[in-house]
Amino acid sequence: MGKIVILAIESSCDDTSAAVLCDGVLLSNVTASQKVHEEFGGVVPELASRAHQLNILPVVDTALKRAGVDKKDLSAIAFTRGPGLLGSLLVGTSFAKGLALSLGIPLVEVNHLQGHVMAHFVRTGEAVRQPKFPFLCLLVSGGNSQIVLVGGETAGAVGSGMHMPKMTIIGQTIDDAAGEAFDKCAKVLGLPYPGGPWIDKLAKQGNPKAFVFAEPNIAGYDYSFSGLKTSFLYTIRDLMKADGSPTVEALAAHIPNLKEDLCASLQYTIIDVLMRKLRKAAKDLKINQVAVAGGVSANSGLREAFLDYGKRYKWDVFIPPFAFTTDNAAMIAQAGYYKFLDGDFCAIDEVPFAKTTI
Ligand code: KG4
Repeated sequence: MGKIVILAIESSCDDTSAAVLCDGVLLSNVTASQKVHEEFGGVVPELASRAHQLNILPVVDTALKRAGVDKKDLSAIAFTRGPGLLGSLLVGTSFAKGLALSLGIPLVEVNHLQGHVMAHFVRTGEAVRQPKFPFLCLLVSGGNSQIVLVGGETAGAVGSGMHMPKMTIIGQTIDDAAGEAFDKCAKVLGLPYPGGPWIDKLAKQGNPKAFVFAEPNIAGYDYSFSGLKTSFLYTIRDLMKADGSPTVEALAAHIPNLKEDLCASLQYTIIDVLMRKLRKAAKDLKINQVAVAGGVSANSGLREAFLDYGKRYKWDVFIPPFAFTTDNAAMIAQAGYYKFLDGDFCAIDEVPFAKTTI
């Protein structure tokens, strides 16, 4: 077999990304982020799909040029089929279909969440440490919070590049995702969107024990963050009432370090909730290979907690490089490569989907 060259396209939310992978090694990964949503405090779906339409051609063109690959050298096109915003997914899916059809090459559909997990297998040339099967992956993003069992009895040898591993969700949020909790609480504090990185920044100067918020009490390995969000909101509302402040800004002017302490306490609570369930799963299933993936894995407190739990419970921990935490096409290319090797292609009439489990 000649070289296997995969072009991957990711357009599930507000990042247009394209990547080129050759024989399992990443050659390029180009992402255009959309600033248009900042003033609205969240992603506006219609604006997102229009921005994808503007970005997709230059992003794909740049990814091919940076990789030094001509489109006639492509073996297949991998694309994110879902979950995500339907209008956004339609742009990437339609582009992938059109290009694959015109080049006469196969299409590979990739589940966005499985892509996040596969970020741990992206190789940029130098050797990378990869989790061994079975492993647990805490998948935390703006739309999802899940504990995924990767591999297990049917796992193939992904490390040797042969199969997509089996993925089973053993726990997930029953309401808001962790990233959503970060973003919504940040909005209450008047911080820009997305609020996660801002909370992370302010938390560094705050006291994580300054405020105590209600923690969920959910059975098994499932999560819940909507009660925590309400508790955060009520804490601020009560402080404003007691102080007679009409706004959060007025309150912050009266209480030193208020925003920093709120951010540190919120971040501490979210991480505590995430890690305690993950520890329970690892203990019950007797698994010591533990990974984290998704946008929230960029959080410095969560990264520290992973290292700390690793030492305490003798876990082998895997934290992806920053570039592969938020949405990117490199992870889609990696998943697409393994599916290509498995001969797992999709039909030209496959349609995107907004919601799914893994
Ligand atoms: O995976 P991702 O890029 O997009 C989705 O597929 O959802 O995740 C975006 C989420 C947002 O909620 C954002 O606030 C959060 O990841 N995030 C963070 C940090 N960086 C990004 N949350 C907390 N701390 C961070 N440093």
